[in-house]
This record gives sequence, C-alpha cells and structure tokens, in this order.
Amino acid sequence: MDDLFVRTVNMNLKNDFKILVVNSSPKKHGHTQKLLDAFLEECPKTAQIKYVLAFELNAKPCNDCGYCHKNNSCKFRDLDEFYKDFEVADLIVFATPVYNFSFPAPLKSIFDRFQRYYNARFTRNKKPPISKKRNAVILSTCGSCDEYGFEVIKHQAKSAFTVLNVELCGFVGAKNTDFEEISNDDILKSKTLASLVFNK
Ligand SMILES: Cc1cc2nc3c(=O)[nH]c(=O)nc-3n(C[C@H](O)[C@H](O)[C@H](O)COP(=O)(O)O)c2cc1C
Repeated sequence: MDDLFVRTVNMNLKNDFKILVVNSSPKKHGHTQKLLDAFLEECPKTAQIKYVLAFELNAKPCNDCGYCHKNNSCKFRDLDEFYKDFEVADLIVFATPVYNFSFPAPLKSIFDRFQRYYNARFTRNKKPPISKKRNAVILSTCGSCDEYGFEVIKHQAKSAFTVLNVELCGFVGAKNTDFEEISNDDILKSKTLASLVFNK
C-alpha cells in the first residue's frame, strides 16, 4: 500500500459536502469503474456527488487562443458548468485508465483547459486563481505491470494542482488489468483510501 497516501487530510464533513467525480474511462462497467465504485461505497451518504464522464463531456482541446490572458473564463463555453462544479467541490475524484502512459485524450483536454486558471495566476496575477482550497484523489488502472503511466499521471496532476489550489491526498493504482480482473486487494485499497479521506 506504499502509494495510497500522499497526504492525510482533515475533511470538514458538513452535510452539503460536494464531490466531483471525473471518470475518463469510455467503459461504463470497466476496470476503472470498479475501482471507483469501491471508493464511492465508502463516501458519506449525505455527500452531494456530481458525476462527469469525460468521454461524454468531450471537452474541446485548448488551442491557446489567448482569450484567458484578458478574461477570467474560456472562449469555448462547453466547460462552463464543469468549471463551476470544479471550483465549488470539496473533493475531486479522478478515475482514469492509463492510455499510452498518460490520461485518455478527453481527460487531457480537460487538464489543458485548466489553462484559463494558469493564465489567471501568471498573466493576470490572481492569487490563487480559485479561492477555495480543495482536495483530490486519483484512482487509476493500467493493463500492464509497468507502473510508469501512474507516475506520469501523478506528476501531471500534481503539477496542475499547484496552480488550481488542489492538493492530491491519495492515489490508488491497479495494474495488470489486461490479464486479470481488478484484485480484491486493489478494491480494498480504494475503500481504505475513502475511509481515511473521510476519517471513518
Ligand atoms: C488506447 C489505449 C492505450 C493504452 N495504453 C496503456 C499503457 O500505456 N500502459 C498500460 O499499462 N496499459 C495501457 N492500456 C490498457 C488500459 O490502461 C487498461 O486496459 C485499463 O484498465 C482500461 O480501463 P477501463 O476498463 O476502465 O477502460 C491502454 C488501453 C488503450 C485502449
């Protein structure tokens, strides 16, 4: 369980605790969903959960148009609701398979579209670009036993999170899914992570 905790958190579990789940598997009953289900089973029943399927959201890729150099928004309007949910969430859960040692393209698009906050911070000097401090966990699966994809994903996410006022508080990586079902051990890791995040 070496990877399970990056940081311990002290969640303020008020009744309107908001969880934004971003699932970037195209499969509704795939390996990543199983890991995610295990995590969500341990979430407080009172939490308000918003669920986003990255393949359905299908965010337009950032084209560096420069609009966010001057405006506190993005020229493309397809993520307006997503940005709102992202800014008010208490916990963001990214559930993602590894594709070519990284995120699947729809999640990469979302991360690139966080560029509006990068420009708020570094071009328009808005510190922090999102006032609410939030926590995130990443649940990831990969087909092989090569864990490099997990490292890349963690590195990309942590780097983006520093600008976004988000702290990565946990990670679970389940490997070898091309050859075996998600193991009970990995399911347990996901549940344990949730229990710890929610101080159960
Ligand atoms: C386009 C594509 C690229 C992939 N790249 C990798 C990879 O780089 N490393 C790896 O271990 N598995 C790779 N896989 C396997 C998936 O990560 C693995 O099957 C994952 O568990 C799928 O999750 P899902 O069932 O939730 O979609 C790839 C699969 C696809 C479809």
